[in-house]
Amino acid sequence: MFGWISSKFSRKLSFAIALVFVSAMLLADFLVIRVLQNQLIAELAGNIKSQAAVAALSAESPVTLSKKTIASRNLISRLRQACDCRVTFIDTRGVVIGDSEISEESLDKIENHKNRPEIKAALEGRPALVNRHSETTGQDYLYAASSIAGRGGAAGVVRLALPLTQIHVKTARLRRAVALVFLLVLGVSLLCVFWLSRSFFNPLSEIVAVAQQLADGQYGARLRRLPKDDMRQLGIAFNGLADKIEQDIKRLSGLEEVRKDFVANVSHELRTPLTAIKAFAETLRLGALDDVKNRGEFIAEIEKNADRMNRLVDDLLELSAMESGRRRPVKEPVSFMKVAAESVAGLKPLAEKKRIVIKMEPLHGLPEFSADRNQIKQVFANILDNAIKYTGGNGTIYIGAAAKDGRLTVSIGDTGEGIAPEHLPRIFERFYRADKARSREIGGTGLGLAIVKHIVEAHGGAVGVESKPGQGSRFFFSLPLT
Ligand SMILES: Nc1ncnc2c1ncn2[C@@H]1O[C@H](COP(=O)(O)OP(=O)(O)OP(=O)(O)O)[C@@H](O)[C@H]1O
Ligand SMILES: [Mg+2]
Repeated sequence: MFGWISSKFSRKLSFAIALVFVSAMLLADFLVIRVLQNQLIAELAGNIKSQAAVAALSAESPVTLSKKTIASRNLISRLRQACDCRVTFIDTRGVVIGDSEISEESLDKIENHKNRPEIKAALEGRPALVNRHSETTGQDYLYAASSIAGRGGAAGVVRLALPLTQIHVKTARLRRAVALVFLLVLGVSLLCVFWLSRSFFNPLSEIVAVAQQLADGQYGARLRRLPKDDMRQLGIAFNGLADKIEQDIKRLSGLEEVRKDFVANVSHELRTPLTAIKAFAETLRLGALDDVKNRGEFIAEIEKNADRMNRLVDDLLELSAMESGRRRPVKEPVSFMKVAAESVAGLKPLAEKKRIVIKMEPLHGLPEFSADRNQIKQVFANILDNAIKYTGGNGTIYIGAAAKDGRLTVSIGDTGEGIAPEHLPRIFERFYRADKARSREIGGTGLGLAIVKHIVEAHGGAVGVESKPGQGSRFFFSLPLT
């Protein structure tokens, strides 16, 4: 996946490095090799110049300058060996008397050397050094000429010539060595680039692969091997990000489930009373309206179901207002004793009807505390209402409250049917009912305890329940007294 980026990157980097190396090589050639070459030539020039002077001294004899003498031929060949260069003798008229590289027979064909710059200068008494192409041999030479002293001035000139090809060969060899070193270093650098970009891009390509998996919805995908060195932090951060994404997605799909459940529950809860209302209305329309004895009952049923829908909608609106934060507790000093007494008074007729006794501990001495009075009343009333609803005839309800450690704790116990342990953890959820059929028959919507939990938690408190099926339940909540 990241391969192409990696190869593109290393190609670019390799190209840049190669460019740097080639420029460095050219620069080295210019600066170092040229300088070396010039120095070499200068050194050789110095040598050949002094050699020419020595050669001129050794030729100071009239014999040597007469053409074709054995002595002159011997001297030329000895000098050639000693200096390892071409040796030429020229007389004062410019005639070449002898040359180490030219046979005696050919000497006559050589043109007059009088106008060669080095000869001219030497005859004028200036030892000369000239770098020039030779017409005679067709090569580049470094010429050094020195005049041979005779009786009445210069008797001739000895000239030494060193072919420059030697120097060219030497510098070419040097150039080759330098190029080889550069190429070796370039090769090693390119290997380094390859290795570095691999160690850099391999972890990245793994991260990209996992990111792709995440994008494809595989939220459990993680980097199994964390990269080493500098990339390690990136790997850790990446896995952390993936964890967060997975958790968020889980939460969102959980919320989506809750929303779907909620819509289904609301529709279901509304349909039951609606169906009943429609059925009773239809019965009335089809003749029951004239049934003076029973029509009141039908109308009462319609009213009862409409009330139930009303309650459901009220509860839903209340819950939604609290959940969205639109309905925050409006705090004022609250006396729990008064709140409890009012609620008990309101629900007493219901309890008496079922011959249920409500026993309330004396609640004197409880301090006032800051809370939303209506909401606290609703909490207490909802729990008490349940206790009455889900307790059979002749039961007892115990109410207790205590202030301790800065908290008010209220407990409402009953001797009712109780709640099976499997229902306890979910009893405070919206629409959750331990015994659906029974609760519905009683007219419950399953929202009462959800509202209780919301209100108590909005006040910074906590709710709880314990129950023994068949023996009764005890609900409790605590609120901070500040
Ligand atoms: N004291 C109790 N004893 C036994 N079961 C209870 C008691 N209180 C609550 N429950 C169970 O918990 C469920 C949820 O209670 P909740 O008050 O939320 O709803 P509800 O009473 O059914 O309807 P609503 O209160 O909205 O009219 C009830 O349906 C019932 O099954
Ligand atoms: Mg209830």
